[in-house]
Amino acid sequence: MPIETWFPLAIYYTDLPDAAAHRDSLLGAVLALEEAAHERRITEETAWTGDVHGVERIHDDPNFAWIVEQLEIKTTIYLKALGVDLNKIDLYIQRSWPIISRPTQRILDHRHLNAHLSAVYYIAVPQTGDSGSLVFFNDTKMNEVAPGLWADYSSGLAESNTLNFETVTYAPVEGRLVMFPAKQRHGVEANQTEELRVSLSFDIILTSAETSDAGLYEFLSPPPKQWKKLKHKQAL
Ligand SMILES: [Fe+2]
Repeated sequence: MPIETWFPLAIYYTDLPDAAAHRDSLLGAVLALEEAAHERRITEETAWTGDVHGVERIHDDPNFAWIVEQLEIKTTIYLKALGVDLNKIDLYIQRSWPIISRPTQRILDHRHLNAHLSAVYYIAVPQTGDSGSLVFFNDTKMNEVAPGLWADYSSGLAESNTLNFETVTYAPVEGRLVMFPAKQRHGVEANQTEELRVSLSFDIILTSAETSDAGLYEFLSPPPKQWKKLKHKQAL
């Protein structure tokens, strides 16, 4: 049938070959960070996320040097595939944190609007069942020709197929790195096993390269070293 699909969302994933060798040390480092962190600030139904517990800079922690190096390599591959001119941009990890999902815990849907790229790396994944997939939501619904046609309550679809799906799921895989546009709405389903699922999250920012074509400055932030911090009212 002559139907073509356009404007695809590009989600990158790769399985890191050295993952097994780093699994236990990464897992130990994450559990130690949780132990030393602030008092729990979220409900019992929500996975423990380091970013709201004072653990949001694992990129500065030598225990995570290997995965940060992997992230640097794979981010380059992903952006090259997207056609980005890597000579004109700089990349920064803005924030990075561990996530520990215990039985029944999940992460509600959200976007990382503070960043441009987001990544997740799975350190430890239960082998006994469904420990919760990463879910991406189709918010643009470009093929929903009449608004509401796809909604559960309208029953306007005779079948689900690749032209009308509303979500896509990625089951967690130990040693897998997944990368996606940070603005893409996503969430994590509940851990339905009796074991821990442990992962790392990264938020990455693109800025103009210091030597960049000035034209890009309209769209990207200049390098942070060129910024000047202003005193806000309370500091005056
Ligand atoms: Fe997220």
